[in-house]
Amino acid sequence: MVVIESLKFNNVTLKFGGITALNDISFEVKPKKLYSIIGPNGAGKTSIFNCISGIYRPTTGTVKYGDNNINELRPDEVASLGIARTFQNIELFENMTVLDNILIGCHRQLNYGPISSLLYSKKVKKNEIQARKNAEEIIDFLEIEQFRYSYIMSLPYGVQKRVELGRALAMNPDMLLLDEPAAGMNNEETEDIARFIIDIHEEMKKTIIMVDHDMNMVMDIAEEVMVLNFGEKLAEGVPAEIVKDKKVIDAYLGVS
Ligand SMILES: Nc1ncnc2c1ncn2[C@@H]1O[C@H](COP(=O)(O)OP(=O)(O)OP(=O)(O)O)[C@@H](O)[C@H]1O
Ligand SMILES: [Mg+2]
Repeated sequence: MVVIESLKFNNVTLKFGGITALNDISFEVKPKKLYSIIGPNGAGKTSIFNCISGIYRPTTGTVKYGDNNINELRPDEVASLGIARTFQNIELFENMTVLDNILIGCHRQLNYGPISSLLYSKKVKKNEIQARKNAEEIIDFLEIEQFRYSYIMSLPYGVQKRVELGRALAMNPDMLLLDEPAAGMNNEETEDIARFIIDIHEEMKKTIIMVDHDMNMVMDIAEEVMVLNFGEKLAEGVPAEIVKDKKVIDAYLGVS
């Protein structure tokens, strides 16, 4: 049986020289939740993702995924636990097609050694067919069939954001970290991406942590929201509570 884990930050502080990017942050994301982190520019949202995915190491405190101390792991080790992410600034191979970028995600979970690859064994062939099938399913799901063989650099920004989501999904993660999935999108593109996120959450049953500045989308789809401000946790709760919280309104949502 596959056990999906809780993610726990325990008193995490992250410093860069004199800058405290995160100050004593604790929170928990239970399996299959759609949890959102919001806050002004520089609040520490991306730093939280970097602490989860092994890019930054907390100065003090721990990050746990089930029993795993993920603050001690490398990015590839975190990925192999079933945690995938998208980036605030799209990170795709620009000179490759949509299909190839998504296949790279699929290949991360294939397991065969260099010798069987060289011999192009039956197992390798079977895996390749399976990877191609997975990639095609993701392409259909994200409604990007018409761009299958297009090069990334030739595509509009909104489509590139979808492909990045596809690359993360291709790793078949239990937990997805989405850093500003709706950034730079118009209303229609935002509605589309929100619909995909809801489907990934409800149908694929994945745990999602989403950072975004689009308050309508966050308050519409998140089950729980944490608000950060200058590296401090300002509030945490269901969207209906967060929008009424005076501290949050003053710091972030506008003057109360
Ligand atoms: N590698 C780094 N070196 C130095 N300072 C850093 C580094 N990474 C982040 N910081 C600092 O930590 C703070 C939090 O940055 P972070 O990128 O986490 O904010 P954010 O909430 O994601 O902001 P935005 O909404 O603009 O994406 C900022 O003051 C930033 O300058
Ligand atoms: Mg950020």
